[in-house]
Amino acid sequence: MSRASLIDKLLGCYPRWSPTAYKMTLGAVLGCAIAIPLAMVALPFIEFFNGMAAQPKGKAQMTYGRTYGAELIVERAPVAGTIPRDFYPYAFDHLANTIEAATEVGKRIENPVPLTMDALREGHELFNVYCTVCHGVRGEGDGPVTGPRRFPAPPSLHTKQAIAYKDGSFYHIMTKGIGKMPSYADKLSPEQRWMVAHYVRALQRSMAPKPGDLTP
Ligand code: HEC
Repeated sequence: MSRASLIDKLLGCYPRWSPTAYKMTLGAVLGCAIAIPLAMVALPFIEFFNGMAAQPKGKAQMTYGRTYGAELIVERAPVAGTIPRDFYPYAFDHLANTIEAATEVGKRIENPVPLTMDALREGHELFNVYCTVCHGVRGEGDGPVTGPRRFPAPPSLHTKQAIAYKDGSFYHIMTKGIGKMPSYADKLSPEQRWMVAHYVRALQRSMAPKPGDLTP
């Protein structure tokens, strides 16, 4: 008995489909089951009318497009001497973040912020926010992030070396960082760095007062 007549019997009716038609239908269904999910994945990445996106154009900060002077640029060159917002030029920026450089800067610049109670209070607050995590509240290098298998403990701020630093050295260290200590130039404005320098100085004196320090 041929397969077609068996199906005829089973269905009890008279299907007009040949076995080839069944195979083709099955093939089409399977084909769709594979092709449709694939198309759904691929379609979002196929652009049909992408004339707007694919047109030749310049993108910001890229160096092609319009010519300006000798350069091929998209944006106009900023006026000579333009500086980014919140950028403070630092005369000793070219110096490294080393003890020697910090000592050198200390000899060259003085603290321009007058030493007032307000400046000290602000310096105190900023020191507590930005420095105590490593240096500890008293500057003894025992901040909460330091310790074995944690951040390397900085040296105490009450060593001979730290006491010998001038305010300018503190300023340089805060501006450029030193060793593993990062720069704080993006957190503290120049004025704030000088205030912190005042506070570190006060902290040092509070830990090693000399006769006369307490007399007003
Ligand atoms: C992430 C931890 C960390 C923070 C926060 C940090 N420091 Fe430091 N600091 C260090 C480390 C570590 C050293 C030692 C650097 C070295 O020699 O490798 C150091 C060194 C110093 C020194 C030099 C000490 C010396 O004897 O040479 C000064 C001064 C100093 N820091 C001041 C500050 C001030 C002020 C702040 C806050 C604005 C601050 N640090 C914030 C980790 C830190």
